[in-house]
Amino acid sequence: VAAEKGEFRHFMQKEIHEQVRALTDTLAGRVDFDNGKIRLPQLNLDAEGAKKIKKIIITACGTAAHAGMVGKIYLERIARIPTEVDIASEFRYRDPIVDADTVVLAISQSGETADTLAAMEEGRQRGAKLWSIVNAIGSQAMRVADGFISMQSGPEIGVASTKAFTAPLVDLFMLAVLLGDLRGTLSEKERFDLVADLRLVPDLVGRCLDREDEIIPIARKMKDAAHMLYLGRGVNMPIAYEGALKLKEISYIHAEAYPAGEMKHGPIALVDKDMPVLAIAPLDPWYEKMISQIEQAKARGGSTLVVATEGDTRVPDLADHIFWVPKCPWLLSPIVTVIPLQMFAYHIAAQRGLDVDQPRNLAKSVTVE
Ligand code: G6P
Repeated sequence: VAAEKGEFRHFMQKEIHEQVRALTDTLAGRVDFDNGKIRLPQLNLDAEGAKKIKKIIITACGTAAHAGMVGKIYLERIARIPTEVDIASEFRYRDPIVDADTVVLAISQSGETADTLAAMEEGRQRGAKLWSIVNAIGSQAMRVADGFISMQSGPEIGVASTKAFTAPLVDLFMLAVLLGDLRGTLSEKERFDLVADLRLVPDLVGRCLDREDEIIPIARKMKDAAHMLYLGRGVNMPIAYEGALKLKEISYIHAEAYPAGEMKHGPIALVDKDMPVLAIAPLDPWYEKMISQIEQAKARGGSTLVVATEGDTRVPDLADHIFWVPKCPWLLSPIVTVIPLQMFAYHIAAQRGLDVDQPRNLAKSVTVE
């Protein structure tokens, strides 16, 4: 049966809205809230195996690589395992340092991206353990792995990935908690608290989706912009990259992403009245630093768009446009802050009359190098 768009104009919009369901399914059967435990049986992982891991190398392309950048923070913060993120097309030719105590973790919606598969093969040759987080059941990246996590996103048709971005964020969070538990790096209370936070995710995402009507007029204002600069820090730095990628892919507006702390090392020179700055500034440990970046952008005449937490009293004085998100545990905030940026890119592209689901020059799955 062909996938249907139903009430939506495009698959991308439908898939953005399917995230509540996808994230509910992602948690189902994996999270034992009563005992504060995570179960990921298809990883084939026990305490001995978990304790052996000295390094994790996440490898992926595109949106999946941005999920990996958040995953690095989860794996380091929660499981205390040194973690690198490497773009698959780089990893495969880099002569990487990998051994039997390294896990190569591939993330892929399709499970058929040529560079990601080649990166896995490179890891295999060098004796690494291979894991994957994959959406397409039975795909190559699932079959060749020693263990895998099956994304519960369901089929994704739109070329620009949305629900296959947020699902692996939750998968990576669960993986970090499981590894932290097996390696004994988490206290019982920490583990229970992290697991309890997961329960909030589907509802938090739903509350972002409920604000779609507020995003449409912002998209209308910005749809003729020539450039945009996306800034984030810490756990939300990868969301700047993902938000900018969404805008580029489907609206063809040039968008650049930067870790906000790098502004003074170059990009601030670009900021004037013709360079809108989009800052991701929820209430996380980097909030004060983001506020001062927004002040600096404003002082240079840039129009400011800010992703902010409901109830924030400082952002309204600084922002020309605000994307409100609900208050949430900061480690999980990327799953929330990305939602308005997906909708923003979608509505800009739709208002520009572009082919949202099949953007020019792009393929859903890149199966050749
Ligand atoms: C293509 C798609 C992107 C996707 C990337 C990786 O470039 O257009 O949306 O993020 O491939 O795909 P994968 O299937 O490996 O996640």
